[in-house]
Amino acid sequence: MKTLIKNAEQIVTVDTKGKNVKRGKLLSEIAPLSDHSILVEDGIIKDFIPNSNSSKTEVEKIIDAQSCIILPGLVECHTHAAYAGSRANEFLMRLKGATYEEIAKSGGGITSTMKAVRNSSFEELVKLLKPRIDHFISQGVTTLEIKSGYGLSFYDEIKLLQVINHFRVHSSIDIVPTFLGAHTYPPEYKNDHGQYLKLIIEELLPYIIKNKLADHVDAFCEKTAFSSEDVDLIFTKAKKLGYKLRLHTEQFNVVGGLDVALKHKALSVDHLEVIADDDIPKLAKSNTAAVLLPGVSFFLNCPFAPARKLIENNAIVALATDYNPGSSHIPNLQLIMQLAALNYKMSSEEIISAATINSAYAMGVQENIGSLEIGKQADFAIFEAKDISEIIYNIGINLNKYTIKKGKIVYSRNVEN
Ligand code: NIG
Ligand code: FE
Repeated sequence: MKTLIKNAEQIVTVDTKGKNVKRGKLLSEIAPLSDHSILVEDGIIKDFIPNSNSSKTEVEKIIDAQSCIILPGLVECHTHAAYAGSRANEFLMRLKGATYEEIAKSGGGITSTMKAVRNSSFEELVKLLKPRIDHFISQGVTTLEIKSGYGLSFYDEIKLLQVINHFRVHSSIDIVPTFLGAHTYPPEYKNDHGQYLKLIIEELLPYIIKNKLADHVDAFCEKTAFSSEDVDLIFTKAKKLGYKLRLHTEQFNVVGGLDVALKHKALSVDHLEVIADDDIPKLAKSNTAAVLLPGVSFFLNCPFAPARKLIENNAIVALATDYNPGSSHIPNLQLIMQLAALNYKMSSEEIISAATINSAYAMGVQENIGSLEIGKQADFAIFEAKDISEIIYNIGINLNKYTIKKGKIVYSRNVEN
């Protein structure tokens, strides 16, 4: 099946010249292409054809991108979208002065969502997750990562991963599941952390990879959660089993997470709101991506990660929502991109690279997606805009007109609305 996408104002290719990642200064090189159409064959980008030649190309389907720009499909690499319950009460407590960590220590936070998840069936969780995924798709997201981490028992972590995996089959976009059993110690192991670690390392990790429920592992390295020694044990076993690694670290405190992640060559370190200045060069020199989550700083009214310093030191910076009920109740990657402009002082070009190719890199799927290069998957977000500055400027307005996954329209905005 051949499809031609034509008449676009511009094609923002984010060309990496085959490198499939952008570091430092290269983040701002998004290689826009004018007067061209995109030829898609069997879900793959086949060619960029000059408009003067495009009428000679025989195709089965034409997609008209008049008055639009074509971007790589947006890539959302960090969410906790599979959850139940609401933490609106905690939001109100924080507005009155309580901190996220205080709420967590007093039995709220992740534990409160854990209770709601444990009380929900597979079917109920599927029903809750479906509209959240659809909402991401409507924004132009074509690959979406979703973590477990609110079950925190063998049964409930597997249940949550099964819910996420349900959408690998029953969703029009790619869903990447991540096992986050090491999110926080559940109350029943409060006085026996060793037993919970044992459950993760000896039972959950082998079971999950064997049953193909996830091949990514994440952990939360923080004073109130897992120590760097705990993470070291989990990562050592996970790596042996063939998992790819991610780590929530340097969010509130520096407790050695960054070093453990670099030691194990993790795909990404996520958060970094409090990364020490002196640690920036070593992260920037590594091949580990820095996934920045400005929604968390905005939502919790906390410091923003040092995005400019990371970029100036040549790091691989990616952006994500961290969509979750407690610290970033923001299921909107476009808003995250806008927050990155306002608070990180990232340019529109840097933001596009960070939310496409570098997010793909943070999940290890950069060979297939994240930029528009011949041979890659035909995943596009087609925005009604003359250039990318419109995307950053139109806060609260979804300019996405078509989300295209492997050459097929999976979301189309009703233009009358
Ligand atoms: O990425 N930092 C830990 N985990 C999530 C928060 C999860 C929650 O509060 O429910 C985060 O911010
Ligand atoms: Fe997170």
